[in-house]
Parts: sequence; C-alpha cells; structure tokens
Amino acid sequence: MKFKVFLAFACALTLVLGICSLSLGKAKPHWKPKAKHEKVNANTKKMIELGEKVYAEKKCDMCHAIGKKGGKIGPNLMHVGKTWKPARLALMIRDSKKINKKSIMPPYGPKQINAQQLKELVAYLSSRK
Ligand code: HEC
Repeated sequence: MKFKVFLAFACALTLVLGICSLSLGKAKPHWKPKAKHEKVNANTKKMIELGEKVYAEKKCDMCHAIGKKGGKIGPNLMHVGKTWKPARLALMIRDSKKINKKSIMPPYGPKQINAQQLKELVAYLSSRK
C-alpha cells in the first residue's frame, strides 16, 4: 500500500518535472533574438508613425497623393520607397532643385522641417513600397 502511494507520487513528480523542462527548453533559445527583433521593429514603426504626422503637418498632400487621397500637382507617393533611397528622399525635400533643376516643389530648409522631422518623414516615405 505504501509502495503504491510512493509510486503514484514519483510518477506525478516525473510528469511535472518533465513538463517544466520541456517548456523551459522551448522558451529559452527563442527568447533573446525575438526580443531584439521586436525592439528594432518598434523603433522603426514609431519613426514611420511620426513621419506620417510630419507629412500631414507640412501639407505635402496639397500637391501629392498617397493612394487616392491628395493633390495631383506632384507625383503620387504611394510606392515612392520602392525606387527612392532615403538619402535621395531627404535631398529632394531639402532642395529639390539639386535633383531636378526645373523642379517646382518648394525647398524645405531646417526652419521648415528640422533634422529629426526629416528623419521621420524619410522613414515614412521609405516605408511606402
Ligand atoms: C507645391 C507643390 C508641392 C508640395 C507642397 C510638395 N511637393 Fe513634392 N513634388 C512636387 C512636384 C511638382 C514634384 C515633381 C518634380 C518636381 O517638380 O520637382 C515633386 C516631387 C516629389 C518627390 C519625388 C517623387 C517622384 O516620384 O518623383 C518626393 C519624394 C516629394 N516630392 C516629396 C514631398 C514631400 C515629403 C513634401 C512635403 C514636405 C512635398 N513633396 C511637398 C510638388 C510639391
């Protein structure tokens, strides 16, 4: 009788330990890289969100559409990130005449769009692929 109780106890213990080590073994190797990856994504996501606000505040949509919403004076920026590299986007915003002498897009100096806002705006446009 005593032996049976002991056996049942031992079985239960093995089972619990087994489940514990199994779940620990699974959780450990994935934890770190996943956390790192998520951090980068969260930062980029934040920059894109802020950039969308800059885009709206600076009224780029007077001349540009993204999808169907916005002006038609400039090209549609829906997929601008596919072909335009970040540095070129930044230059286009700062001084479009450096890219196209006949450009009619107004230049945005640091007084209109500061360095941080420019980074955010470029992150937003680059994400439009
Ligand atoms: C007064 C109208 C106007 C405003 C406002 C304007 N743009 Fe433009 N943009 C243009 C025109 C027109 C072009 C096409 C080429 C040219 O004339 O420079 C252009 C071109 C571009 C391009 C190159 C895209 C391509 O496919 O050739 C980008 C990127 C861009 N604009 C971003 C912006 C951003 C960001 C803002 C807001 C900060 C903005 N523009 C505000 C008129 C405007």
